[in-house]
Amino acid sequence: MENWRTKIVNSDEEHIWFCGYDIRSLMKTAGFVETIFLLHRGRLPEMGERKLLDAILVASADHGPGAPSCATARLAASGNRQSVSAAVAAGLLAIGDPHGGVGVGCMELIAAGVQIARNENVSLGQAAMRAVEDAISHAKRLPGFGHCKHTKDPRVEVLFKMAEEQKIAGDGVAFVRALEAAIRERIKPLPINVDGALGAVLYDLGFPPIAGILIFIVGRVAGLTAEVAEEYLWEKPMRIRIPVQYQGTPPRSME
Ligand SMILES: CC(C)(COP(=O)(O)OP(=O)(O)OC[C@H]1O[C@@H](n2cnc3c(N)ncnc32)[C@H](O)[C@@H]1OP(=O)(O)O)[C@@H](O)C(=O)NCCC(=O)NCCS
Repeated sequence: MENWRTKIVNSDEEHIWFCGYDIRSLMKTAGFVETIFLLHRGRLPEMGERKLLDAILVASADHGPGAPSCATARLAASGNRQSVSAAVAAGLLAIGDPHGGVGVGCMELIAAGVQIARNENVSLGQAAMRAVEDAISHAKRLPGFGHCKHTKDPRVEVLFKMAEEQKIAGDGVAFVRALEAAIRERIKPLPINVDGALGAVLYDLGFPPIAGILIFIVGRVAGLTAEVAEEYLWEKPMRIRIPVQYQGTPPRSME
């Protein structure tokens, strides 16, 4: 069997190194957020980068038991009292498009829009309008916009303001704001949601599009573990009864 390749972790009998840093030094002098950045990017973050990643993780951590990932984790915990890992994993399996994974599509949209603006010498606003027209003509929803509950997502402006203060906001934040304006003009006012905001900021932090879901997952695991613990410690097994209305064929005979 050929050696697996990695640039992330190495170890010998007495050491563990994360991207070259001794784990003992990281444990004593770096924090968890710095370590997440290091594992994904191969270098430690600057102060502003650390603050932004930290804020993204807090923003992703939980949105209450009704969020699809949290509800799925609780349902699994309600029916299987022998495996907390199954319940947390079940919650993770509910993350994707459109819940928690839309940052990927948003980052791809930003990358494509920025490239069009550069290659064709048009403004980000014009490139954003083109993306919105394209979504309309293909009857597609724009990733990172709209919310089932919030008319204004409270996490978005905090992330954007921090990105501006830390001088990290760039094409990502600008393009998502331009998309918001184009959507308002061509569809209806739709709020930027947390996935759109984290996609914009992760783009400006230099992360690849796949981070749009992976970083959300890192943050949401914190909430899922708490939701599962609460279900185990506070609630009875099988307490979740989903109201169902049968609308199929009435009882009938096989004879
Ligand atoms: C989050 C979401 C599922 C909410 O859906 P919803 O509750 O049906 O949204 P609303 O009732 O506010 O609006 C529905 C209408 O608004 C429009 N709309 C809503 N979100 C839209 C989007 N992202 N892009 C384009 N149009 C959108 C559509 O015209 C839709 O009409 P339709 O059902 O005929 O297609 C939806 O906005 C969406 O799919 N967003 C994209 C995915 C996303 O960003 N997910 C992350 C959520 S945190």
